Amino acid sequence: MTGIQVSSRGHGLASGDWLETHFQACLPEYQQMLRSVGLRPGWRVLDAGCGTGSYLPLLTELVGESGSVAAVDAAPENVAAIEERLARGRLHCEVEPRIGSLTELPFPDDSFDAVWCANVLQYFPDEALPRLLAELRRVVRTGGLVAIKDVDMTLLRIHPADPFLVAHLSEASVRGADGGSWSEGSLRGRVLRHHLERAGLRDAWQRTTLIERWAPLAPAERRLWSEWLAFLAGLARERECPRGTCPRGERCRTRTILRIP
Ligand SMILES: C[S@@+](CC[C@H](N)C(=O)[O-])C[C@H]1O[C@@H](n2cnc3c(N)ncnc32)[C@H](O)[C@@H]1O
Repeated sequence: MTGIQVSSRGHGLASGDWLETHFQACLPEYQQMLRSVGLRPGWRVLDAGCGTGSYLPLLTELVGESGSVAAVDAAPENVAAIEERLARGRLHCEVEPRIGSLTELPFPDDSFDAVWCANVLQYFPDEALPRLLAELRRVVRTGGLVAIKDVDMTLLRIHPADPFLVAHLSEASVRGADGGSWSEGSLRGRVLRHHLERAGLRDAWQRTTLIERWAPLAPAERRLWSEWLAFLAGLARERECPRGTCPRGERCRTRTILRIP
């Protein structure tokens, strides 16, 4: 699989300082998303697929010192990065980092008031979602909260480039899907709520947040987009997204838009 910062578990864009760069480049919107889900002081919350812990400072702030957070991730190096983060300084409440699988969570039923699961469902193909969602639901008490934050790559637009460029790449990617980044999981954001409803979650709602960036870019934004565009160009090559087949009849410019202003 083409990927930057591929984790030891084979997930692209899922480890190392890429995760923190991604978080910093989208900071205001990501923090607002987490603030808006309704976590309450004193709650026990699971950060499911926590990565290197970018959301932990705000998660712990929201539940406060009377709350607690468990952070689970499949990649041992990500959990180790959280342990280092905690060693550098205490957050607002107790945090328990653990290596574990989201499809077999190491917690009894009803262990949490809420689950926060950010940028993880994209790695799951449709047929694997029911098991994951059932597991998230199992560990949350009745009346608690399952909050999912995920991407929809079909909404990505890069300027200047053919407006169909990303759609074209998405189509090629789904055909060559290997369960990695930019497989079907990252293209279904618009209908995610139907999957939640099918999993038996009640009162499901969904809101889309547009993240828009223009030059001049801040350093984290610049790094995110430089690396991401290089990743997309590699993906285009790997998935054999051919030149000359963009719907507008222009040459596919995936490989030529790597210069960040
Ligand atoms: C893109 S990262 C997101 C990390 C973090 N939530 C964030 O937004 O910064 C996806 C994370 O999901 C984890 N992951 C993917 N599939 C998993 C699974 N089946 N069980 C546990 N963790 C998983 C990966 O190891 C990775 O840390």
